[in-house]
Amino acid sequence: MSKQLVGVQDYEREAHRRLPRSALDYYQSGALDEVTLRENKEAMERWYIRPRFLRDVSQRTMATTLLGHRVAVPFGVAPTAMQRMAHPDGEVATARAAGRHGAPFTLSTIATASIEEVATAAPNTLRLFQLYIYRDREVTASLVRRAEAAGYSALVLTVDAPYFGIRRADIRNKFTLPPHLRLANFQSAEESGRVNTSPGGSGINEYVASLFDAALTWEDVAWLKGITKLPLVLKGILTKEDASLGVEAGAAAIWVSNHGARQVDGVAPTMEALPEVVAAVHGRCEVYVDGGFSQGAHIFKALALGANMVFLGRPLLWGLACGGEEGAWGVLNTVHTELDSVMALSGCATVQDITRAMVVRRDTLAHL
Ligand code: FNR
Repeated sequence: MSKQLVGVQDYEREAHRRLPRSALDYYQSGALDEVTLRENKEAMERWYIRPRFLRDVSQRTMATTLLGHRVAVPFGVAPTAMQRMAHPDGEVATARAAGRHGAPFTLSTIATASIEEVATAAPNTLRLFQLYIYRDREVTASLVRRAEAAGYSALVLTVDAPYFGIRRADIRNKFTLPPHLRLANFQSAEESGRVNTSPGGSGINEYVASLFDAALTWEDVAWLKGITKLPLVLKGILTKEDASLGVEAGAAAIWVSNHGARQVDGVAPTMEALPEVVAAVHGRCEVYVDGGFSQGAHIFKALALGANMVFLGRPLLWGLACGGEEGAWGVLNTVHTELDSVMALSGCATVQDITRAMVVRRDTLAHL
């Protein structure tokens, strides 16, 4: 990483230069016309920060907790699949970078490093395991047992992906996982090898359609809770209705997400869905959010709107592509520096100081 990279956009530009077309398109694409992809970012600008002054910001901390675990920062790494396309060290590098930063890391079910490999390489990182439920319940239960045995701290059930959304670039590219890589959490060719081929359009969409369980209901959430002692986080919630059902189903956290705008094009940007979910949850469990976050001020705004933790997906892929663990660490460090600056300049010495009164919606200001 010889170039000076200042800000997530620099990492993104550099990653675009470095990544092979098919991997870049897989990482960057949203569903269909990518309206929600654009709006995830635009929605950040609909909120203005209301800085407060003369509050002694000379000593600051971003430390907070996630499901009772202490973390150094109120942001972490969202699960993104197949990170070894970005760098040979893949998920291992990202997990280690998160740990060095005191940030939580989420490993995808369809990762290119296994549950155990990441645990061994990043023993001090607070690790969450993102789960997709396979039609073969023994496959699913085995993933859960392995995450428990390897010391992961929570299961993150992704509820928004009975199938994968239509991503046009992947169809054009006939996207497949390159042959030297495999889905490391699986031994059998059935669960691992299929993603290396694409008989029709996108290899990953065909993989998901053939193996994931599209018949899932809230009963399956109950089943999952019944087979694990780990806290359960529900990822992909966008409405107050599902947030309430999630709390009633015993979720330890509701993770507001539109899957990086990769599923339904036309859903609300996550910054718009967040207040509705926070209100519905009403303090009964933690609330996380992801989607379009690339700057400290964005994170500040989400915390002000009631999120306990903000997760970043693509920015870590850009960091990885630029320089493996150092690149991923660099992205986290950039965001950290920016959030620290916003906190200091807005009168917030701690995360608890970032209250709802610290932001105002732009369109309500116009009416004053
Ligand atoms: C994802 N996401 C995702 N989510 C999940 O639950 N399991 C997964 O395997 C993946 N894989 C994945 C791959 C890629 C390339 C992307 C971009 C996203 C969604 C991810 O966890 C998160 O919700 C979004 O990435 C957040 O948006 P930003 O930060 O990428 O804008």
